[in-house]
Amino acid sequence: MSTHIAFVLGTRPEIIKLAPVIRACNEGDVPYTVIHTGQHYSEKLDSVFFTDLHLPKPDYNLGVGSGTHGEQTGMMLAEIEQILFDEDPDIVLVQGDTNSALAGGIAAMKLDAQLGHVEAGLRSFDRDMPEELNRILVDHGADLLFPPTDDSAARLREEGIPAERVCVTGNTVVDAVLQNRDIAADQSTALLDLDVTAGEFALLTAHRPGNVDDPERFAQLLEGVNRYAELTNTTVLYPVHPRAEAKLEDFDMVVPEHIRCIEPLNFLDFLYLEDTASLVFTDSGGVQEETCILQTPCVTLRENTERPETLDVGSNVLTGPDPESIVINAFEMRTRDTDWDLPFGDGQAAARILQQCNVETPLTSEVRT
Ligand code: UD1
Ligand code: UDP
Repeated sequence: MSTHIAFVLGTRPEIIKLAPVIRACNEGDVPYTVIHTGQHYSEKLDSVFFTDLHLPKPDYNLGVGSGTHGEQTGMMLAEIEQILFDEDPDIVLVQGDTNSALAGGIAAMKLDAQLGHVEAGLRSFDRDMPEELNRILVDHGADLLFPPTDDSAARLREEGIPAERVCVTGNTVVDAVLQNRDIAADQSTALLDLDVTAGEFALLTAHRPGNVDDPERFAQLLEGVNRYAELTNTTVLYPVHPRAEAKLEDFDMVVPEHIRCIEPLNFLDFLYLEDTASLVFTDSGGVQEETCILQTPCVTLRENTERPETLDVGSNVLTGPDPESIVINAFEMRTRDTDWDLPFGDGQAAARILQQCNVETPLTSEVRT
């Protein structure tokens, strides 16, 4: 009988990065169950991606919603465990470093099913980030680890994880970008809708608690991006994540005038904007990777990154929140040659992951690990 896979996901980046694996399951008639924790639930952070990426409705939606880390993870854990008892999958796949990944991981670790971790081995070495704790815990409980790069695999081995559990697959975000880049260019009307011209605008995303939960720091980084916008006469579009929106309201903060706030975008529009922007400012993990793949320069508004490959190839630079550092680095990045190497794989990560799960499909027979 074919391997039955259960996917546990709950947030925007997990939906986007697991979509290629779910799509590969569909193409290969692999039995699977999708368990959505409901960590993200606003239409613009959730259902819009199921539509864009042609994913079937989740089999379960736990509707857990927002809360403290303990509340959120605990509620998910109890419900996921019950579903795994009922569905009895062979393998549970989780992706990345969210509370949904942690809950899915803990539930699977203690059951018969094997736990597979997609995007294993990333480290920021910053334990103040909740994601850092989540990724370490999931990596150390997993039976199958799918790091995107050789460096992330080496880190797992340094931490004592047996080599036979680890397989470098590339990052599924490459699959997602390659599958959707041309579709986005064909279908997206974002440039027209937002009245901007390709190559003449910049994009900003900022949602990490370390940046937006502290009013001084949040104001500083907006000030840096605003100064750049003013000095270069560039429109900066900022699709505001709900966490950031809530903080702007709580702190009674006004976003400076050269940054244009917009609603969070669907994947195709956002991908097209990343592809056509002159520069991207971000604190997102996925955006650092996607800009690297799309050969758009990136300025990361953090002091560290769990994606050092982007720094190594020169697609990305770290600035922290200091306005002067943001401006200097943004000027440096906007003129940088963008023909850097692509470190995150060849777009066949999903097939490699299924191959490691002992799933036979036409796709898996074609890839090499
Ligand atoms: C979570 C992940 C983070 C990931 C991000 C992707 C954890 C610890 N954090 O952060 O790693 O980068 O998702 O976007 O798992 N909210 C809404 N609607 C929603 C979801 C959230 O309005 O659909 C608001 C609520 O006010 C909520 C806040 O956003 O309190 C934060 O949501 P939460 O899921 O706790 O964390 P994120 O910041 O989204
Ligand atoms: N994204 C999107 N619309 C937006 C902002 C981001 O579709 O308005 C996508 C982006 O292409 C990337 C993912 O969301 O694939 C990144 O999610 P996020 O920044 O929320 O999480 P992180 O990657 O930091 O965990």
